[in-house]
Amino acid sequence: MRDPMAELPRILLVDDNPTNLQILSEAIQQAGWTTLFATDGESAIEQAVYSPPDLILLDVMMPGINGFGVCQRLKANIHTQSIPIIFMTALSETVDKVQGLQLGAVDYITKPFQQDEVLARVNLHLKIYHLQQKLETQNTLLNQEIREKNIAEAQLHQLNQELENRVEVRTAELTEALQTIQRTQVQLVQSEKMSSLGQMVAGVAHEINNPVNFIYGNLRPAKEYFQELLALISHYQQEYSSPSQALQNHINEIELDFLQKDLLKLLDSLYIGADRIRQIVLSLRNFSRLDEADIKTVDIHEGIDSTLLILHHRLKASHNRPAIEIKKQYGDIPMVECYPSQLNQVFMNILANAIDAIEEYNQQRTIEDIQINPSKIRILTEVCNNDRVMIHITDNGPGILEKIREKLFNPFFTTKPVGKGTGLGLSISQQIVVKKHGGTITCDSTLGQDTTFTIDLPTRLLVPPDGMIQPKRL
Ligand SMILES: Nc1ncnc2c1ncn2[C@@H]1O[C@H](COP(=O)(O)OP(=O)(O)O)[C@@H](O)[C@H]1O
Ligand SMILES: [Mg+2]
Repeated sequence: MRDPMAELPRILLVDDNPTNLQILSEAIQQAGWTTLFATDGESAIEQAVYSPPDLILLDVMMPGINGFGVCQRLKANIHTQSIPIIFMTALSETVDKVQGLQLGAVDYITKPFQQDEVLARVNLHLKIYHLQQKLETQNTLLNQEIREKNIAEAQLHQLNQELENRVEVRTAELTEALQTIQRTQVQLVQSEKMSSLGQMVAGVAHEINNPVNFIYGNLRPAKEYFQELLALISHYQQEYSSPSQALQNHINEIELDFLQKDLLKLLDSLYIGADRIRQIVLSLRNFSRLDEADIKTVDIHEGIDSTLLILHHRLKASHNRPAIEIKKQYGDIPMVECYPSQLNQVFMNILANAIDAIEEYNQQRTIEDIQINPSKIRILTEVCNNDRVMIHITDNGPGILEKIREKLFNPFFTTKPVGKGTGLGLSISQQIVVKKHGGTITCDSTLGQDTTFTIDLPTRLLVPPDGMIQPKRL
């Protein structure tokens, strides 16, 4: 674009009257501007298009295409539309000035010319034109800058988006990889724990089983033999009512009367003790059920009872804590097809957690408080739609905070001190219930009131025997 102030301004004079042209050109040259001429409309347009001037002084009345026509065509052409046009009319001519201005002219001057007026008006419009051009240039530059900025912003936005997407994908991949590692670890720990602990428990139970059965089985006949011997002694005493002094001394020494009474009591308590050992051994075998590592259809209540028996020492009262009451509300539920030893492990984990929670809670409670509101674990079972059973295990421990509840089933999540908790109990339980049995395990809790774990199991196994999720290759 030309800068009309940087170079000499070029003024195009259009008039069919050579005298007028002469006068005007003299005035304009005096001002130091360059003049161009045209004597008719057509050649004026041609010149203006070919080399646009900085201003046009245009006569209205001309033969051929008149000033208004020229103005209209110049304003319609993109190359010439911004050139300021000043119309020239004779005072005597009756020209519609408004029409001229509407066509886009900037001003009028009248003939005969007042030289100063012409120069002043031309000067003014050159300045306005100059400012307009400058403004336009700046506008164009500004628009260009805005466009470039917008493009840069769009590119930045896109790059950002791409980066975010990549971060998201990578995070998802890493999260999944981490979860896979944790799952694999849990499975490893679980299988290792199950096999080594289970084998040991089953082995010990098996070894104790036989001798305990000898003792238990022989106690009854032993008692009968003793009773017969006691009857014989009493018979002797009747037949020989006055024993020798030596015999009497012996009778006194061994306190025969006391011995007779105590021996029977002693035998009874031996019997109770042996019976208890038998039951514990049975529970241990029931619990580990290594002999039944496969799928079995079993009574779930038996599994819970065995687990409770193993946990008995943690439930009963001791010198520094009251007993934890177990409230069983067993429903009339059908047998369940399952992996019994694994389900027992789930009951064990949940019940042990409940006892842990209660114990910890009670350390902060007063004896009176515990007496008013004693520690309890309720085990409720029910059938659901005839094809599922639900087991609810509720403790009245401290309850679980919402933000902890979200993480309960995460592998290695524990709130217990090092050495006490592994954080694996619930995560293993979840795998067993969900992956192995096609069931669900959920936790509900009200702070300061209770916590309930609910296991929902189908009565028929729907998951294939090797249905455990295989760890994905990383
Ligand atoms: N009945 C419960 N009451 C309160 N908190 C519980 C209960 N059961 C589980 N929790 C919380 O869940 C965590 C995870 O349990 P778990 O997976 O068995 O691991 P661990 O017992 O080794 O800590 C526990 O550390 C404890 O904070
Ligand atoms: Mg636990």
